[in-house]
Amino acid sequence: MTKSSSITPQEKRLTFSFPKELDPLRIPEHIAVIMDGNGRWAKAKGLPRAMGHTAGVDALKTTLKLCSNWGVGALTVYAFSTENWSRPGEEVGFLMTLFKRVLKRELESLKLQKVRISFLGDLEKLSSELQDLILEATTLTAKNTGINFNVCTNYGGRRELVKAAQRLALRSVNGEIDPALIDENVFAAELSTANEVDPDLLIRTSGERRISNFLLWQLAYSEIYITETLWPDFDENALIKALLDYQSRCRRFGGLKHVSKDKRNLEI
Ligand code: IPE
Ligand code: IPE
Ligand code: MG
Repeated sequence: MTKSSSITPQEKRLTFSFPKELDPLRIPEHIAVIMDGNGRWAKAKGLPRAMGHTAGVDALKTTLKLCSNWGVGALTVYAFSTENWSRPGEEVGFLMTLFKRVLKRELESLKLQKVRISFLGDLEKLSSELQDLILEATTLTAKNTGINFNVCTNYGGRRELVKAAQRLALRSVNGEIDPALIDENVFAAELSTANEVDPDLLIRTSGERRISNFLLWQLAYSEIYITETLWPDFDENALIKALLDYQSRCRRFGGLKHVSKDKRNLEI
């Protein structure tokens, strides 16, 4: 029999090399991250806040690469909230320019890494130049088979829920859907994360103990890991610590026993 040149997902995972501390059978399928603490990182070094955001990009690149190398199915990061517009215009402007610069610069590398990038949030409020770049990046990576990388930009959990409710209400009024048939699955399909499983793990850096309007629906049963590490300092060791903590958790989903939602077919 001739051997197919395309490798199976099983064979692919055998090529991953994991840090020895981690249990390859309990790698989360979906990790969400509130990348917080850029401003404090810069302040502690006597630098302008903007430098913290720039440094944060490197931490994000490292995290994406590691998640991709370790077989995480999806990484969803909070880059800009619907509330972040209330920051000084100068900082908002810097962030928008940074998004454009990084997206242009990293597109080739994302393609090479087989990353499928998506942007979640109200994108219409972004500049047309940024919207064009987003469209280009999502289109050019749409068929990639690697990690799903979701960048929440002008994202707010409440806004996402309201928009979903509006769409369902409209479909009901138009007679396309019976309101009695709207259940959790129908509702979840209206969210920007419709194609993803819910995050198994939420990481928040910089020690803040709040959700800040991130993925309000999707985080219902996520394990929450909060670290004092500021986002620009978040590196491989910090991710391993977060994953080790996750792997020690007992996930009960309201029952009495641990229920595993992790990859079961990852035979090493
Ligand atoms: C997170 O870092 C990045 C964004 C919200 C865009 P912050 O800018 O919130 O940093 P801190 O919390 O002020 O330190
Ligand atoms: C959450 O961080 C938003 C992002 C990381 C993009 P914030 O710094 O905006 O959150 P709060 O204001 O501390 O709640
Ligand atoms: Mg913050």
